[in-house]
Amino acid sequence: MSLILGIETSCDECSASVLIHEGAGYAPISISTYSQIELHQPYGGVVPEVASRNHLEQIDPVIWDALGRAKVEVADLDAIAVTNRPGLIGALLVGVTAAKALAYASKKPLVPVHHLEGHLMSAFLRSPKTGVPKIEFPAVFLLASGGHTNLHCIENAPELWEATVLRDSLAGCSMDDAAGEAFDKSAKILGFPYPGGKWIDEESSKGGNPAAFDLPRGLKQKDSLSFSFSGLKTAVALLAQRLLKEGVLQAALPDVCASVQEAIVDPLIRKTLTLQKMKSAKTIVVVGGVAANSRLRARFSAESPVPVVYPDLQYCTDNAAMIAAAGAVRYAQGHGLKASDFLKLNAFAIAEH
Ligand code: KG4
Ligand code: ZN
Repeated sequence: MSLILGIETSCDECSASVLIHEGAGYAPISISTYSQIELHQPYGGVVPEVASRNHLEQIDPVIWDALGRAKVEVADLDAIAVTNRPGLIGALLVGVTAAKALAYASKKPLVPVHHLEGHLMSAFLRSPKTGVPKIEFPAVFLLASGGHTNLHCIENAPELWEATVLRDSLAGCSMDDAAGEAFDKSAKILGFPYPGGKWIDEESSKGGNPAAFDLPRGLKQKDSLSFSFSGLKTAVALLAQRLLKEGVLQAALPDVCASVQEAIVDPLIRKTLTLQKMKSAKTIVVVGGVAANSRLRARFSAESPVPVVYPDLQYCTDNAAMIAAAGAVRYAQGHGLKASDFLKLNAFAIAEH
């Protein structure tokens, strides 16, 4: 059994979590997250410098809160895991520096974590409501967040993942905007606050017709597993302009939102199901903030021939429990760094794998 502290500051959530790792079980025992959403809302998106400065203020309280809620002392920990790639560089540096200081002072090993490996691991976290998720391999993972849209085919349990698992399992990704970004940009054009995904979802549920407006789907070829969402913004802007001129935009909002949602969800569903079929995958796993979308869930339930697993909502958006879990896997595999190595550890805005 090992006790891991996870730290996540790659974007606009400052989060720490204590997790128990035992065999194939990953059980968060505390999580403390400070979301900066309100700080960035006036700008309609994340402002990197505002994010870094706020992480600097929040990182200590968040870490001590997570330890306090878990009733754990730093001395009890086996290792400290921290996101060091990819993300906003100034934001990452705050988490990495705090983690180094804590690990150095307490003589604990430090485990650098790839943020996307954390998102994949969110699916294995024990849920307070539903317990341990049942994931059979091979499994197709759809990772759809504000920053990424990736399709992975994962062959085995996390304990067996190689350091290159993300690169080795990648079957497709977005060529431009991420799915969450497409939701947020479309929502901004339609006048909703940042982040707009949940507003588009809510407005659509007011009886919106997903087929009301014909919006573009990028990379429609049957065998393509890549995504493209950048054309959607212009189409949404032109549609909104036309409906505004005709004085019907407000009344048409549920239909517009349902059509935008469909234009994003449709390729996510089709390409995930194509990969599932190609690989005869036994489970589909959906992670990242867009996993909260109700239309995506409804369509998967109706169309998937295999079980579809979603992490608890609190683990879909950025959080440190998933980072602690990814760190736990690497620590168990012997990848914890000693001070002589981790003092040189850097953060990377872009990470290949
Ligand atoms: O995983 P996450 O915290 O972001 C990154 O790691 O980048 O996910 C945030 C994204 C935002 O783009 C947000 O609009 C989207 O998830 N989102 C949704 C919903 N809830 C959050 N998108 C569609 N429908 C939702 N219900
Ligand atoms: Zn993320």
